[in-house]
Amino acid sequence: MQRPSIEPPFTPRTPALRSRLPRVGTTIFTLMSALAQTHGAVNLGQGFPDFDCDPKLLDAVEQAMRAGLNQYPPMAGVAPLREAVAQKIERLYGHAYDPADEITITAGATQAILTAILAVVHPGDEVIVLEPCYDSYVPNIELAGGRVVRVALTAEGFRPDFAAIAAAIGPRTRAIIVNTPHNPSATVWTRGDLDVLAALLRPTDVLLIADEVYEHMVFDGVPHASAASHPELAARCLVVSSFGKTYHVTGWKVGYVAAPRALTAEFRKVHQFNVFTVNTPMQHGLASYMGDPRPYLELPAFYQRKRDLFRAGLAGTKLRLLPSQGSYFQCVDYSAVSDLDEAGFCRWLTTEIGVAAIPLSAFYENGRNQRLARFCFAKRDETLRAALDRLASL
Ligand SMILES: Cc1ncc(COP(=O)(O)O)c(C=O)c1O
Repeated sequence: MQRPSIEPPFTPRTPALRSRLPRVGTTIFTLMSALAQTHGAVNLGQGFPDFDCDPKLLDAVEQAMRAGLNQYPPMAGVAPLREAVAQKIERLYGHAYDPADEITITAGATQAILTAILAVVHPGDEVIVLEPCYDSYVPNIELAGGRVVRVALTAEGFRPDFAAIAAAIGPRTRAIIVNTPHNPSATVWTRGDLDVLAALLRPTDVLLIADEVYEHMVFDGVPHASAASHPELAARCLVVSSFGKTYHVTGWKVGYVAAPRALTAEFRKVHQFNVFTVNTPMQHGLASYMGDPRPYLELPAFYQRKRDLFRAGLAGTKLRLLPSQGSYFQCVDYSAVSDLDEAGFCRWLTTEIGVAAIPLSAFYENGRNQRLARFCFAKRDETLRAALDRLASL
């Protein structure tokens, strides 16, 4: 073979790729945030707080940094944080995970879910997702070579449709992903729902991936129905949560996975060669801050007040309020206000009314149009009032 010339002229060329995720583009969250910024709209679209975290948490992280806790931590996470997480789960949900082999600290819930899927899904395996669902699940399953099996939540009330779930379970089903409290619908699963799911999974080897990032945001005195609180489900479950949601630090990207020893062992094999570890001082800061349970115990009341403020303001509009049982989202049916489809309505709301929201269609494969939009109320009261002033015209 003739050697290629190494003398110029030649044109540098980036080889063409066959995309691993050909259907993924810029997300609606990014698009709506950009539109909100251009039009000076109040951004109730993307789900993050516009207020800061407790200064005590910042102090705890600073102390860790100044104490020299700045080098690689153990792969699974620093021991004090794994212990604090295990204690919290035991106190709240009655399940004793061993911090040594059953709790792993992750770079947010997003990495936890991807890692869980990569660890358990082989090419050709099926994974059930309940639509509408958080936007990372489907690409995660596709990256693992798995087949996505979509089961719709019920049209009225976004409840699990157990007959449809039972029909979707087959010999290739490897896992089902359940998210409670639910983004985007703000519904929560009950203990009874967990019982039915457990009965469905009992004769199978189907694993449960429980996305519980909003575990501390369940309202009206209802307890969070964690898969960890259900011994039968816990035995086949990877429970995922996020400190970002609980402590108003979404940008820190620290979360965790609690799972039985055998599942954790496989999870950590992938985690080790994915992120390997999560930044050290944040972990130590979070561990010491978790010594006081009040911040997470008081979170339901904190967000319930914001939910109620926001709902009271919207009650005077033609928007129909769906229930918000948990998470920091409020969905509305806008069919009395507009004939536009959901994406069109959210664009119009942002550019003409000055409030950004997210279309529910963004959480479905086929962009189902139900005339529903999602607002995030994890905002300062002033922000919520400014949005309500603008929405009052509807
Ligand atoms: C349902 C759900 N799961 C996972 C995540 C990701 O959490 P994290 O920021 O910890 O990666 C989010 C964030 O919006 C979410 O709403």
